[in-house]
Parts: sequence; structure tokens; C-alpha cells
Amino acid sequence: MATAALDSDVKDIGLASQGKLRIEWADRMMPVLRLIRQRFTEEKPLAGVRIAACLHVTSETANLMRTLKEGGADAVLCASNPLSTQDDVAASLAADYGIPVYAIKGEDEQSYYGHIDAALDHQPHITMDDGCDLVTVAHKQRPDVIENMLGGTEETTTGVIRLRSMEENGVLRYPIVAVNEANTKHLFDNRYGTGQSSLDGILRLTNILLAGHTVVVCGYGWCGRGIAARAKGAGANVIVTEVNPLNALEAAMDGYLVMPLLDAAAQGDLFITVTGNAHVLDGQHFAAMKDGAIVANAGHFNIEINIPALRDLAASTAIVREQVEEFTLANGNRISLLSDGRLVNLSGAEGHPASVMDMSFANQALSAEFVVGNHDELENRVYTVPTEIDAGVARLKLDAMGLAIDTLTPEQEKYLSSWEEGT
Ligand code: ADE
Repeated sequence: MATAALDSDVKDIGLASQGKLRIEWADRMMPVLRLIRQRFTEEKPLAGVRIAACLHVTSETANLMRTLKEGGADAVLCASNPLSTQDDVAASLAADYGIPVYAIKGEDEQSYYGHIDAALDHQPHITMDDGCDLVTVAHKQRPDVIENMLGGTEETTTGVIRLRSMEENGVLRYPIVAVNEANTKHLFDNRYGTGQSSLDGILRLTNILLAGHTVVVCGYGWCGRGIAARAKGAGANVIVTEVNPLNALEAAMDGYLVMPLLDAAAQGDLFITVTGNAHVLDGQHFAAMKDGAIVANAGHFNIEINIPALRDLAASTAIVREQVEEFTLANGNRISLLSDGRLVNLSGAEGHPASVMDMSFANQALSAEFVVGNHDELENRVYTVPTEIDAGVARLKLDAMGLAIDTLTPEQEKYLSSWEEGT
């Protein structure tokens, strides 16, 4: 039964004490965000700013929300995915930190969108989105909230693609900073975060051995690169499938087999989609798979695996473990679908580790501050994170990791800024 507390809708407020411990555990591994929080506590750069965040409700997100609140913001949080909410964290945010949360793990579509509406009822000045659902609802169903908006931020590749389409079609009605485009975001979160957490989710759900098995990674963007590297490191034979020739070439030179998905379908033991596109694994692929194949998605939306097509092919289905649905096809082969095709790292495990979310959420907090300080000059466009913020996050993370680097000598600086010297 859902509990309403502090204008929140969470599963059970009684879970708060367990959630608080998890939030504090994650915080130990988020030194950059902690530094920002200390400065925000003193300077209050977000004073009086209402923020609606639509993010995965995890212990890492909780520490971002605390940071926004310490910065003076009046912030609320709803889930950016129906399966990724950590109910104990949601409870603690509401009960211990006084931050309204609308999120329940496993909520249905009506509840999911009801929670987005509740976040927009907060009349935000800033939206903080992961996948663009909040911005889409604001634009399509809630024009009443647009007038107050100073700007927004977007966390993920899929969301940025949608926002660029809105910009190109001239429908975007306030500026958005694409946090995903920061180097200190996608080079680390998408690659090392998704790489580790996706396999973590798959292993927790199935307990399969990767060594000696064939893993097919569909898509070789930053997330696909991360998953392929980690699967290879665990001893799997990795096949990469791609539609982009450059990415395919890179995969081949990184040492993976590259082939069309239909060829890979007959070879794979485990398939992981991470393309951002629809129906990557489709009926023809399921029909070609071996008995016992496992399919999982690590892309933002649950459209990468054509589940209706899988259902059509199935003679019967059964839930054989938590979040594992086994489809028995007419030819007798069994295919297991994980987490109903939703983000396997957040539904089957806990999402990316805090150390890497530290950089992503440092960019989020600083981008919100940037929007507040610069909204007068911004147009209704998608902006990249300012280079100073991105480079600053890298420096702080290096410091926190106790890593020192060299600096250019005056002679080297002069050399780099000159053009006359040749052979
Ligand atoms: N996206 C991926 N991992 C995440 C996490 N741990 N918290 C919030 N968003 C995430």
C-alpha cells in the first residue's frame, strides 16, 4: 500500500531508516557532489528556485536532491522509470530530508504519469529530466507550467535526442542543458557505469556464468562500449552489432566480432540491447535464437526488444525467477526476457555505482546553477554543459581520487600556441 507523507506518494514511509543508511553509504563515494553541497549550503545559489526532477529514484539521486535543497531550491522528485525506484530511498527523502517524492517501484503507467503531473503541479522554474518524459508532458499536456520555466537539464542520450528533435521542429519552449554531452558525464557514466551496472543487473537476476559464453551487444555507443569491455573482461566471447560504420569499425579494432544481428542471433547466449532505437531484437531474431537464450535491455526505453513479437511467437510463458519471464516458442526453444525489457541495470540491480554518478550529478547541480545565473541570455535551444564546468568536475574528481597530474612548462605552453616552428 502506498503511503502519502509530506505531500509524497511512496510505497512505505516505514522504510525510511533503511533508505537513509543507503543514501549515506552512497554519499561517502560522492566527494565532488559533497564539495558542491558544502558550497551551495553557504552560497544558496538556488534560493527560491522551484525544481521538478524526474530521475531514477536511487541513493545517488537522493544525494543530488539534498544538494539542490541545500542550495536553497524547493525541489520535488518523481521517477523517470516505473521499475527503477528504490522504495526505501524514496521514503527517506520524504521523511528524513523533507523532499517530496512521487515514485513507487513497479507502478503502472497511470501512476507513473500521475506522478509526473504531481511534480509539474509544483510549478517548477527548472526541470531536471532523465529521458525527457517530464519535458514532453510539460509541452504536450501542461502548457500552464511553461510560463514559469527558466530552463532545464537532461541526463541521458535518449532524452537529448528527443530534445534536439524538439529544437529542430521549433517546439522547444525553454532552454535545456544537455548534461549527457559533458565529457565528465558520458565518457564515464555511460561507459563504465552502464558497463558495470548492466552486467550486475543481469548477474543478480540470472546468476549465469559469463566466461566462455557468447554475449551479443547491440549498439556500440558509449554504453555498448562499456558493456562489451566488461563482458570481455569476464571471459565472454563478445559479438557487436551496429548500424553505424564508424562504430562497427571501432568495435572490430577493439577486438570484437562484428556481424549482422540475424547472424549473431543464432550464436548468442545473452543479448543486450543498448541502441536507443525501437525493435532492435525482433521476431526474426527470436526465431533464430538458441534454446536458453537470454535477452535484456540496457537502453533507456523498453522498446528495444519487440516484446509483443516475442509474445506472438510463444506457445507459453512463465515467470521462472524474479524479473525473468521465460517464453517457450512453438519450436520448443526457450527465451528468457529480463525485467520486462526495461533498463536491466536499474531494475535488476541498483544502477550505476555512486562513484561515477558523482560526476554526472555534479554536472547536474552545476548546470542548474548555470541556468539560474544565465537564463536571460539563453534561447529555447539545447546547450552543452559549459567547458569550465566539465573541466572543473574532472579536476575535482582527480583531486578526490588523490591523483596528481603534470602541468605544462612555460616553454611547452609557448610551443603549443606558436605555429612558426617546423621540422
Ligand atoms: N542512472 C544510471 N544509474 C543511476 C543511478 N545509480 N542513479 C540515478 N540514475 C542513474
